[in-house]
Amino acid sequence: MGPNPVKLTEELLSAVSIPAGSLVLDLGSGTGITSVFLAREYGLRVVAADLWSDPTENMRFFEALGLTSSEVFPIHADALCLPFAHGFFDAVVCVDSYNYFGRDGSYLEEKLLPFVKTGGVICICVPGMRRDCHDDLPAALLASWTPEQLDYIHDAQFWRGIISGTRGIEILSLSEMESNSEVWEDWLLCENAYAVSDRKAFAAGGGEFLNFISIIVRRTK
Ligand SMILES: C[S@@+](CC[C@H](N)C(=O)[O-])C[C@H]1O[C@@H](n2cnc3c(N)ncnc32)[C@H](O)[C@@H]1O
Repeated sequence: MGPNPVKLTEELLSAVSIPAGSLVLDLGSGTGITSVFLAREYGLRVVAADLWSDPTENMRFFEALGLTSSEVFPIHADALCLPFAHGFFDAVVCVDSYNYFGRDGSYLEEKLLPFVKTGGVICICVPGMRRDCHDDLPAALLASWTPEQLDYIHDAQFWRGIISGTRGIEILSLSEMESNSEVWEDWLLCENAYAVSDRKAFAAGGGEFLNFISIIVRRTK
Protein backbone atom coordinates (compact mmCIF):
# COMPACT_ATOMS: atom_id res chain seq x y z
CA MET A 1 0.00 0.00 0.00
CA GLY A 2 3.06 2.27 -0.12
CA PRO A 3 6.87 2.39 -0.01
CA ASN A 4 8.32 -1.01 0.93
CA PRO A 5 6.84 -1.61 4.40
CA VAL A 6 9.06 -4.59 5.19
CA LYS A 7 12.27 -2.61 4.73
CA LEU A 8 10.78 0.28 6.71
CA THR A 9 9.80 -2.05 9.56
CA GLU A 10 13.21 -3.68 9.58
CA GLU A 11 15.01 -0.35 9.92
CA LEU A 12 12.49 0.96 12.46
CA LEU A 13 12.88 -2.07 14.73
CA SER A 14 16.66 -2.14 14.41
CA ALA A 15 16.73 0.68 16.96
CA VAL A 16 14.76 -1.15 19.65
CA SER A 17 14.40 -4.59 21.19
CA ILE A 18 10.91 -6.06 21.53
CA PRO A 19 11.17 -9.56 23.06
CA ALA A 20 9.70 -12.49 21.11
CA GLY A 21 6.25 -13.36 22.40
CA SER A 22 5.36 -9.73 23.12
CA LEU A 23 1.83 -8.64 22.26
CA VAL A 24 2.11 -5.95 19.60
CA LEU A 25 -0.44 -3.71 17.95
CA ASP A 26 0.31 -3.23 14.24
CA LEU A 27 -1.66 -0.01 13.92
CA GLY A 28 -2.78 0.91 10.40
CA SER A 29 -1.64 -2.53 9.27
CA GLY A 30 -3.17 -2.21 5.81
CA THR A 31 -3.27 -5.56 4.06
CA GLY A 32 -1.13 -7.09 6.78
CA ILE A 33 2.32 -7.42 5.21
CA THR A 34 3.96 -5.78 8.22
CA SER A 35 1.90 -7.97 10.56
CA VAL A 36 3.18 -11.13 8.89
CA PHE A 37 6.74 -9.80 9.04
CA LEU A 38 6.42 -8.98 12.76
CA ALA A 39 5.04 -12.44 13.54
CA ARG A 40 7.44 -14.44 11.41
CA GLU A 41 10.70 -12.55 11.75
CA TYR A 42 10.42 -11.35 15.34
CA GLY A 43 8.14 -14.00 16.89
CA LEU A 44 5.70 -11.34 18.07
CA ARG A 45 2.00 -11.90 18.75
CA VAL A 46 0.34 -9.34 16.53
CA VAL A 47 -3.02 -7.59 16.45
CA ALA A 48 -3.38 -6.25 12.90
CA ALA A 49 -5.70 -3.25 13.23
CA ASP A 50 -6.75 -1.20 10.23
CA LEU A 51 -9.55 1.09 9.12
CA TRP A 52 -9.69 0.74 5.33
CA SER A 53 -8.76 -2.93 4.89
CA ASP A 54 -11.13 -5.87 5.22
CA PRO A 55 -10.20 -8.03 8.24
CA THR A 56 -11.72 -11.10 6.56
CA GLU A 57 -9.42 -10.70 3.56
CA ASN A 58 -6.50 -10.11 5.90
CA MET A 59 -7.39 -13.25 7.88
CA ARG A 60 -7.43 -15.29 4.65
CA PHE A 61 -4.03 -13.85 3.76
CA PHE A 62 -2.64 -14.81 7.18
CA GLU A 63 -4.17 -18.30 7.00
CA ALA A 64 -2.78 -18.84 3.51
CA LEU A 65 0.65 -18.19 4.98
CA GLY A 66 -0.01 -20.71 7.75
CA LEU A 67 -0.43 -18.13 10.51
CA THR A 68 -3.11 -18.72 13.12
CA SER A 69 -5.19 -16.10 14.95
CA SER A 70 -3.02 -16.57 18.05
CA GLU A 71 -0.08 -15.39 15.95
CA VAL A 72 -1.80 -12.60 13.97
CA PHE A 73 -5.28 -11.40 14.88
CA PRO A 74 -7.00 -9.20 12.26
CA ILE A 75 -9.42 -6.54 13.38
CA HIS A 76 -11.24 -3.58 11.86
CA ALA A 77 -10.45 -0.60 14.08
CA ASP A 78 -10.20 3.16 14.02
CA ALA A 79 -7.01 4.51 15.58
CA LEU A 80 -9.07 7.38 16.97
CA CYS A 81 -11.25 5.01 19.00
CA LEU A 82 -9.34 1.80 19.71
CA PRO A 83 -11.38 -1.11 21.08
CA PHE A 84 -8.86 -2.56 23.56
CA ALA A 85 -8.29 -2.67 27.31
CA HIS A 86 -5.96 -0.09 28.78
CA GLY A 87 -2.43 -1.38 29.31
CA PHE A 88 -3.06 -4.28 26.89
CA PHE A 89 -0.08 -4.08 24.52
CA ASP A 90 3.63 -4.53 25.13
CA ALA A 91 4.36 -2.41 22.07
CA VAL A 92 2.86 -0.63 19.07
CA VAL A 93 4.32 -0.64 15.57
CA CYS A 94 2.92 1.84 13.10
CA VAL A 95 4.35 1.92 9.57
CA ASP A 96 3.30 4.56 7.05
CA SER A 97 -0.04 5.26 8.69
CA TYR A 98 0.43 7.48 11.80
CA ASN A 99 0.48 10.56 9.57
CA TYR A 100 -3.20 9.90 8.73
CA PHE A 101 -4.47 10.09 12.30
CA GLY A 102 -1.64 11.26 14.59
CA ARG A 103 -1.02 14.85 13.48
CA ASP A 104 -2.99 16.26 16.40
CA GLY A 105 -0.70 16.88 19.37
CA SER A 106 -3.19 15.31 21.79
CA TYR A 107 -3.56 12.04 19.86
CA LEU A 108 -0.69 10.06 21.35
CA GLU A 109 -1.43 10.86 24.99
CA GLU A 110 -5.20 10.53 24.80
CA LYS A 111 -5.95 7.94 22.12
CA LEU A 112 -2.98 5.56 21.89
CA LEU A 113 -0.74 5.64 24.96
CA PRO A 114 -3.43 4.33 27.36
CA PHE A 115 -3.44 0.97 25.53
CA VAL A 116 0.30 0.37 26.07
CA LYS A 117 1.82 -1.08 29.23
CA THR A 118 4.11 1.11 31.30
CA GLY A 119 7.59 0.54 29.87
CA GLY A 120 6.20 -0.42 26.46
CA VAL A 121 7.44 1.16 23.27
CA ILE A 122 5.64 2.80 20.38
CA CYS A 123 7.55 2.60 17.10
CA ILE A 124 6.34 4.85 14.31
CA CYS A 125 7.61 5.62 10.85
CA VAL A 126 6.01 8.14 8.55
CA PRO A 127 6.73 9.50 5.09
CA GLY A 128 8.15 12.96 5.63
CA MET A 129 9.64 16.05 4.11
CA ARG A 130 13.29 16.96 4.53
CA ARG A 131 12.02 20.44 5.35
CA ASP A 132 8.39 21.56 5.49
CA CYS A 133 7.59 23.57 2.37
CA HIS A 134 3.82 23.84 2.53
CA ASP A 135 3.94 27.61 1.99
CA ASP A 136 5.64 27.14 -1.37
CA LEU A 137 5.03 23.59 -2.56
CA PRO A 138 7.42 22.46 -5.33
CA ALA A 139 5.81 21.78 -8.70
CA ALA A 140 7.44 18.34 -8.66
CA LEU A 141 5.38 17.28 -5.63
CA LEU A 142 2.24 18.84 -7.04
CA ALA A 143 2.66 16.66 -10.13
CA SER A 144 1.30 13.73 -8.09
CA TRP A 145 -0.34 15.13 -4.96
CA THR A 146 -2.72 17.96 -4.01
CA PRO A 147 -1.81 20.44 -1.24
CA GLU A 148 -4.38 18.66 0.95
CA GLN A 149 -2.66 15.30 0.43
CA LEU A 150 0.74 16.86 1.06
CA ASP A 151 -0.52 18.23 4.35
CA TYR A 152 -0.16 14.66 5.68
CA ILE A 153 3.60 14.88 5.16
CA HIS A 154 5.87 16.94 7.41
CA ASP A 155 9.47 17.28 8.54
CA ALA A 156 11.12 15.95 11.71
CA GLN A 157 10.79 19.31 13.46
CA PHE A 158 7.01 19.23 12.96
CA TRP A 159 6.83 15.71 14.41
CA ARG A 160 8.99 16.64 17.38
CA GLY A 161 6.56 19.47 18.10
CA ILE A 162 3.60 17.08 17.88
CA ILE A 163 5.13 14.34 20.06
CA SER A 164 7.12 16.32 22.63
CA GLY A 165 4.08 17.77 24.42
CA THR A 166 2.92 14.26 25.38
CA ARG A 167 2.95 13.51 29.10
CA GLY A 168 3.94 10.03 30.27
CA ILE A 169 6.54 9.26 27.59
CA GLU A 170 10.22 9.58 26.91
CA ILE A 171 11.31 10.07 23.32
CA LEU A 172 13.95 7.41 22.65
CA SER A 173 14.64 8.66 19.12
CA LEU A 174 13.16 10.86 16.45
CA SER A 175 15.19 11.09 13.26
CA GLU A 176 15.36 10.84 9.51
CA MET A 177 15.65 7.22 8.35
CA GLU A 178 18.16 5.75 5.93
CA SER A 179 15.29 4.13 4.05
CA ASN A 180 14.21 6.55 1.39
CA SER A 181 15.01 6.15 -2.29
CA GLU A 182 15.11 2.34 -2.14
CA VAL A 183 11.71 1.95 -0.48
CA TRP A 184 10.19 4.49 -2.85
CA GLU A 185 11.77 2.73 -5.88
CA ASP A 186 10.22 -0.58 -4.78
CA TRP A 187 6.83 1.16 -4.57
CA LEU A 188 7.12 2.94 -7.93
CA LEU A 189 7.76 -0.40 -9.64
CA CYS A 190 4.30 -1.61 -8.54
CA GLU A 191 1.57 -1.47 -11.14
CA ASN A 192 -1.25 -0.24 -8.91
CA ALA A 193 -2.88 3.08 -9.82
CA TYR A 194 -1.46 4.99 -6.82
CA ALA A 195 2.09 3.91 -7.52
CA VAL A 196 1.73 4.78 -11.20
CA SER A 197 0.43 8.25 -10.28
CA ASP A 198 3.27 8.78 -7.76
CA ARG A 199 5.84 8.20 -10.53
CA LYS A 200 5.14 11.69 -11.94
CA ALA A 201 6.49 13.41 -8.82
CA PHE A 202 9.65 11.34 -8.81
CA ALA A 203 10.22 11.78 -12.55
CA ALA A 204 10.07 15.55 -11.92
CA GLY A 205 12.66 15.35 -9.09
CA GLY A 206 10.21 15.41 -6.18
CA GLY A 207 12.16 12.71 -4.35
CA GLU A 208 14.74 15.25 -3.20
CA PHE A 209 12.13 16.89 -0.94
CA LEU A 210 11.01 13.66 0.74
CA ASN A 211 12.29 11.32 3.41
CA PHE A 212 11.07 8.89 6.06
CA ILE A 213 11.06 9.75 9.74
CA SER A 214 11.17 7.29 12.62
CA ILE A 215 9.80 8.08 16.06
CA ILE A 216 10.31 5.74 19.01
CA VAL A 217 8.86 6.53 22.41
CA ARG A 218 8.53 4.63 25.68
CA ARG A 219 5.59 4.87 28.07
CA THR A 220 7.02 5.92 31.42
CA LYS A 221 3.98 5.81 33.71
C1 LIG B 1 -0.33 3.74 3.29
S1 LIG B 1 -1.29 2.55 4.15
C2 LIG B 1 -0.03 1.65 5.03
C3 LIG B 1 -0.45 0.26 5.39
C4 LIG B 1 0.62 -0.62 6.03
N1 LIG B 1 1.04 -0.13 7.33
C5 LIG B 1 1.80 -0.77 5.12
O1 LIG B 1 2.82 -0.13 5.36
O2 LIG B 1 1.67 -1.53 4.16
C6 LIG B 1 -2.07 3.53 5.41
C7 LIG B 1 -3.02 2.75 6.29
O3 LIG B 1 -3.46 3.61 7.33
C8 LIG B 1 -4.74 3.15 7.70
N2 LIG B 1 -5.47 4.18 8.43
C9 LIG B 1 -5.72 5.45 8.06
N3 LIG B 1 -6.47 6.07 8.99
C10 LIG B 1 -6.68 5.17 9.98
C11 LIG B 1 -7.37 5.19 11.22
N4 LIG B 1 -8.01 6.28 11.65
N5 LIG B 1 -7.38 4.07 11.97
C12 LIG B 1 -6.74 2.95 11.57
N6 LIG B 1 -6.05 2.86 10.41
C13 LIG B 1 -6.03 3.95 9.62
C14 LIG B 1 -5.43 2.82 6.40
O4 LIG B 1 -6.49 1.92 6.62
C15 LIG B 1 -4.27 2.26 5.57
O5 LIG B 1 -4.28 0.86 5.57
